[in-house]
Amino acid sequence: MRTAKIHPSILCANHGSLAEEIKQMTKAGADYFHVDVMDGAFVPNFGCGTDIVKCIKKHSHIPIDVHLMVENPNRHIRLFRDLGADIISIHPEADNQAALTLTAISESGAIPGIAINPDTSVEAVKELLPLCGHVMAMTVYPGYGGQRFLDFTLDKIKALWALSKEYGFSLCVDGGISRDNIKKLALLGVTNFVVGSALFSQHDYELAVRELRSEANG
Ligand code: DX5
Ligand code: ZN
Repeated sequence: MRTAKIHPSILCANHGSLAEEIKQMTKAGADYFHVDVMDGAFVPNFGCGTDIVKCIKKHSHIPIDVHLMVENPNRHIRLFRDLGADIISIHPEADNQAALTLTAISESGAIPGIAINPDTSVEAVKELLPLCGHVMAMTVYPGYGGQRFLDFTLDKIKALWALSKEYGFSLCVDGGISRDNIKKLALLGVTNFVVGSALFSQHDYELAVRELRSEANG
């Protein structure tokens, strides 16, 4: 039996009532909060920062998955770990010493992860996979919530699934995930799903999380 994990992307929450959003999503039974940290350099947008992680910690017991879309992420590992990040993912495209950074994440006690841009091949990151506990295939170009899922990433997801069996990392997708495509991805072996706009646009978070999970597990 598959056991899909749902990671609501807090970037897509209503930041005018963030504490309430966090409490509601916690009650809804989400598995992780996904925090998109953006520096306006590696990606064109600015995203969540340390205050968001603090706010999640204050209002929820759910583990936190930090997605660092920043250049030279190695400078920020300790900071996010000390704030309570449970998974920390970096972009190998933004780090010319990604293996060192992944080792530092491991040593900090967090689960080390990589996020792979749509244009980055599996071949380009293969050496890093034994160091990863979590691998996120970006299924949109990073930077914004609410974009359309990119179908051409499916072949890469298939290749990553085979490697996840070899190395034991959890396989995650990030970008454009909804009830329309979650089952197809689960059938390819994806176990972890970042969901932003398709979740926070719903009125009943509990129902929305349950539907996504049962669609993926069914
Ligand atoms: C995109 C981010 C995603 C995004 C997901 O750069 O990494 O986590 O917030 O949002 P949706 O599900 O709306 O694509
Ligand atoms: Zn993300």
